[in-house]
Amino acid sequence: MHASDIEGDLTEVLVTESEIHAKLAELARRIEADYEGRDLLLVGVLKGAVMVMADLARELRPHLNMDWMAVSSYGAGTQSSGVVKILKDLDTDLTGRDVLIVEDIIDSGLTLSWLLENLRSRGAASVEVCALLRKPDAAKVEVDVRYLGFDIPNQFVVGYGLDYAERYRNLRDVAILAPHVYS
Ligand code: XMP
Ligand code: MG
Repeated sequence: MHASDIEGDLTEVLVTESEIHAKLAELARRIEADYEGRDLLLVGVLKGAVMVMADLARELRPHLNMDWMAVSSYGAGTQSSGVVKILKDLDTDLTGRDVLIVEDIIDSGLTLSWLLENLRSRGAASVEVCALLRKPDAAKVEVDVRYLGFDIPNQFVVGYGLDYAERYRNLRDVAILAPHVYS
């Protein structure tokens, strides 16, 4: 789906598909250099990170593994609850593994800081974070993000995996959702 297909639902396209792909290529080169000679495990956070994972993983040249977790912190609304629950855990034993968490967006940071602590407690050799988007003005806790795509304003965004009530994930770009859609 293109932004032009749902123009009335969006107020502004923040990051275009081609900007996303260029940024992921840049991050992939850094990741390749940093993890040279090591076995990388990408951990995607369902469902929002599906697109980032798919494009980042295919951009990376060395062999890697992918695994998935589902956590909930939001429900169907637009405000972070701070309560994190594991809905689907990893299949992989993290002992001694180099783990890179792949996230769509860091808002309050609560989900990710909880996830980092959780995965680090499982005996991984390293746990780092790659996030496509971050809202600096929404931060409630500081999260150390090794690989960051874009800082964006503190507005609710959809697209490229991000949803509102499970819709808009198939939008190619990242865009601000028009308030009339959710109010
Ligand atoms: P926190 O606040 O814990 O939230 O950093 C991270 C998770 O919240 C979701 N999230 C959003 N989803 N548009 C969305 O579609 C947004 O603007 C947005 N902000 C946060 C997302 O699932 C993320 O993993
Ligand atoms: Mg969501």
